Amino acid sequence: MSPQKKIASEGPGSGVQERSSWSGKWGFILAAAASAVGLGNLWRFPYLAAKYGGGAFLLVYLILVITFGFALMMGETALGRMTGLSTIGAFKQFGKKFAFIGVLASLVPFIITPYYCIIGGWVSKYMVSYLTTPADVIAGDKYFTGFILNNPMTYAWLLFFLACAFIVVGLGVQKGIERANKVLMPTLIGLSIVISIYSLTLPGALDGLAYYLIPDFSKMSVNLVVAAMGQMFFSLSLAMGIMVTYGSYLDRKTDLEQSVRRIEVFDTGIAFLAGLMIIPATFSVTGSAEGVATKAGPGLMFGVLPKVFETFGVMGRVMGFLFFALVFFAALTSAISLFETCVSIVQDMTRRSRGFALVTSGVLITLVGIFVNMGYNIGLGWDPMHSIFGFGEYQDFQMLDFFDFISNTVLMPIVALLTCIFIGFIVKPQKFIDSVRESSDFKGAKLFSVMIRYIAPICLVLIFVFYILNTMGIVAL
Ligand code: PHE
Repeated sequence: MSPQKKIASEGPGSGVQERSSWSGKWGFILAAAASAVGLGNLWRFPYLAAKYGGGAFLLVYLILVITFGFALMMGETALGRMTGLSTIGAFKQFGKKFAFIGVLASLVPFIITPYYCIIGGWVSKYMVSYLTTPADVIAGDKYFTGFILNNPMTYAWLLFFLACAFIVVGLGVQKGIERANKVLMPTLIGLSIVISIYSLTLPGALDGLAYYLIPDFSKMSVNLVVAAMGQMFFSLSLAMGIMVTYGSYLDRKTDLEQSVRRIEVFDTGIAFLAGLMIIPATFSVTGSAEGVATKAGPGLMFGVLPKVFETFGVMGRVMGFLFFALVFFAALTSAISLFETCVSIVQDMTRRSRGFALVTSGVLITLVGIFVNMGYNIGLGWDPMHSIFGFGEYQDFQMLDFFDFISNTVLMPIVALLTCIFIGFIVKPQKFIDSVRESSDFKGAKLFSVMIRYIAPICLVLIFVFYILNTMGIVAL
């Protein structure tokens, strides 16, 4: 996040504060897009879409983004702009008893950042591998598992990625990174289009395209909807207070609705492209829809794309390096946004210096990151879902998946639900609509209030109930 000029503005209720602001509308859009576009789009979206039936998942995801995602992002940014405060303060502004919503939201970045950096480490490893290793070796079946099971190296790459994020935040050079992003993002899009078109020429890839684009309604399930919703929060950086903080840097002139739409189109466009690049190619590798669904997991991108690059011959290495380098930058800007959020939360809560907050968050995230990474290596022989909650069959326990589950499937829907109730019934949507209208028209005002007040909360509760019943084996949906 790089608020560009310092101004003194009044934080309502908390006296005059030094606050930063974006330089114009594009400053906000670019920073929010840099936070939104990352591993969520490139790594997480394709494997979830592949796992949950392709077209059916895509359809549910798109519907969620333009309805619920839109309403929530409008609500969060407007809340930030209205109060001029970051998460906890913004909720507290309307009564001390609401501060807990901000506190819950603030937990999310602390859970996500450690495992985000682990995947960032995998990306770094692949980026560097293409400089040192032939493309056909990287495309080998055992390459990924060989790496994951290699204890010391996974830690080394995690620490490498953490250090990159830490150094950027510590030196306060985000602005430079974000400026570089203006060139890197379009390059990433260009390269993804080339790779997508190429993957479609692989044998069997067109069946994969059909799998990705044509919804098969028999694949609809509660788990699909829960996964799509968690992915929407994750990818748009919602339900964790980040957009509240970003909104607090916005001036009253910015057209909020248009900005939010642009961020959504950009973020969803990149996720869609990532799916196009990976899913047809996976189909070509595995040969069937079942193959795609069973192969899909956190390792999908690392297993499938190298096989595509391999077929490029000599150019494969260049493409591989370029691609993973671009993903690395997209992941880094998101990690910076996560990191920066953790730092500001620690700073707000402890009222200590930025240096103190930086070091505390850095140490905490590193320790948790190392702990999560242990799940891939020493196997704790324990399944918390089964042992604590009594859910489902005992499964081999992956700590990374568990952290991902706690943030995206448990905490974020709860934060989203509380935010809806807070906006819909405590502050009231009209107040938000008036605030948005200070600067522009709000065409989606009706959608916003109906979503926030009724549809989103009711759906959230229903989804939650059915999800639990489903997981406990009481109903099969
Ligand atoms: N939205 C980012 C992504 O898709 C992840 C992220 C979440 C970044 C929350 C910042 C805050 O990769």
